[in-house]
Amino acid sequence: MELPVINLNGFLQEKENLSSSEQDCRKLANVLRQYGAAAIYDPRVEQQDNESFLNMMERYFEQPTEVKLEDARPQLYYQVGVTPEFTEQPRDNSVYAKKLLPEHKPTAFKGKDCKWRFQWRIGERSESSKYPELVSEPVVPRGFPDWPSIMNKWGEKLLATGFTIAEMLAIGLDLPRDAFLRLLAKGSHLLAPTGVDIDRYEKGHVVAGFHYDLNFLTLHGKARYPGLFIWTREGIRIPCKVPDGCLLVQVGAQLEYLTAGYLEKGFHEVVITEELKQKAKQGNQSHWRVSSTLFVHVEADAILEPLGHFQHLELAKQNYVPTEAGAQVAQELYAIQLAQNI
Ligand SMILES: [Fe+2]
Repeated sequence: MELPVINLNGFLQEKENLSSSEQDCRKLANVLRQYGAAAIYDPRVEQQDNESFLNMMERYFEQPTEVKLEDARPQLYYQVGVTPEFTEQPRDNSVYAKKLLPEHKPTAFKGKDCKWRFQWRIGERSESSKYPELVSEPVVPRGFPDWPSIMNKWGEKLLATGFTIAEMLAIGLDLPRDAFLRLLAKGSHLLAPTGVDIDRYEKGHVVAGFHYDLNFLTLHGKARYPGLFIWTREGIRIPCKVPDGCLLVQVGAQLEYLTAGYLEKGFHEVVITEELKQKAKQGNQSHWRVSSTLFVHVEADAILEPLGHFQHLELAKQNYVPTEAGAQVAQELYAIQLAQNI
């Protein structure tokens, strides 16, 4: 099944006078509540930018391991540059997984994820922060002269979509329309594609184990290979099918925090499927599966706490105590073994 599509066009056309697009804002909020994800059509996004980005990332990931390792910054918890395969350990979500029906259980996996990732900051950044790893200098890989321009072009498009979604979502949730935007303006947003060499793994192998994203929203351009599965609020596992020309957006942990669980962080996994294996046999495309991922983040020094009327939800005070976003990120990075010493 395909995810419902939210078209941003109406909202972008009539930003000041929301007569008809207010409905789109409410639909966005409802779809994100039900699915933890939505398909998004944004007329500003050009598929060609995604293609240039995927082409470059495939070339990057196809390089030998020792070349890619030059770009790793473990001292910055891998928050810029490359994260090698077998570094990130999905956190233990077995309490949640136990509640799922047998046919909707996550695919079993052992140990750390076999995916690589590259992280590149997008957008304005704070001059300083208590969390230096979140505002650190970018890494530009050797031999990729167009790296900054290609990364920024695509990343800024995704970020603009992310900001529009944040504004529409605030309206759809009956919050002031800048309620989320003001927390995001100087967030350390990361263009964070993953890469996995399909030929090395059999059908059924887990590339990214069952997890949720620690940030506010995650946006994805269309990947060239399938393999992503998401869980709805009711715990139904569905293959993520996004119509051509659309993006995918997923709810992250920070958005759950700000809405006291009205929107829940979306669980997902990436698995080598039969369909993916078949696709790799066709044509002569790269055998690296690359994701086109942007993590939209709340500013590290901002406070995460339920906003507006969400403060009055029953579990708000108990489960979502005010905490700095940077501290929440650090705690999550520690849990997935990217940070060792907080
Ligand atoms: Fe994820």
